[in-house]
Amino acid sequence: MTPEEIIQRTADYVKGEFERDSSGHDWWHIHRVWQTALMLWRVEGGDRFTIELAALLHDLDDWKLVSSSLRPSPTGRPPDGGRWAGGEGRPIRAEAWLRQMGVAPAVTDHICEIITSLSFKGALVQTPMRTLEGQIAQDADRLDAIGAIGIARAFAYGGHKGRLLYDPASPPQMHASFEQYQNSGSATINHFYEKLLLLKDRMNTATAKKIAAQRHAYMEQFLEQFLREWQGGEF
Ligand code: ADP
Ligand code: NI
Repeated sequence: MTPEEIIQRTADYVKGEFERDSSGHDWWHIHRVWQTALMLWRVEGGDRFTIELAALLHDLDDWKLVSSSLRPSPTGRPPDGGRWAGGEGRPIRAEAWLRQMGVAPAVTDHICEIITSLSFKGALVQTPMRTLEGQIAQDADRLDAIGAIGIARAFAYGGHKGRLLYDPASPPQMHASFEQYQNSGSATINHFYEKLLLLKDRMNTATAKKIAAQRHAYMEQFLEQFLREWQGGEF
């Protein structure tokens, strides 16, 4: 198979897996991250094949999707007590797919490392990314979590998880461990302070930093308006 064929088959596979997701991780999220990663690659460089595959496969084993239609589980936890990407484990489904496509073991290992390191794991938890390819994939995923689309996705995810829009009685918390962050069930407005507003300073590439600044300003404006309406500040 040529690299182009592998990319195309991977896109088709992932599309089939994510088409019905309603948690903000639908196929179009994957598609945007893929295309954004390509735009970053054009400016920043790196190995295109690795970047595209990492972007396409990055959410296939994600812990947040465990209880979605992709992996029904009443407890929202891995059924075998194991861990998936985002924890300490390997991204099992992504790895199996890359093997099946005949991708070289070294490239497969690199992509799996990127997927495992990519996710946000709490306000006080560092998520360093070793390679340029990983930095680009991570920036592309994080850019899709902020701005207008980021706002829409945050509330879609909150609704999917049965969370309140806003709860004035529970202030945001800066999570010091991945476990704390995963177990938090707080209102979606808190998620802006616990994650989304922190992302602009955690972008890796200069290109993503520039785009993030504008999207960040838009979220700040949204929050200001949201709280003004909530508090009756227009009257
Ligand atoms: P990451 O792997 O860094 O979490 P994703 O691509 O999986 O990135 O996107 C996470 C999406 O889920 C974001 O759009 C985010 O706003 C949304 N989300 C909303 N509320 C929460 C929450 N409480 N915890 C985690 N993600 C949330
Ligand atoms: Ni994602």
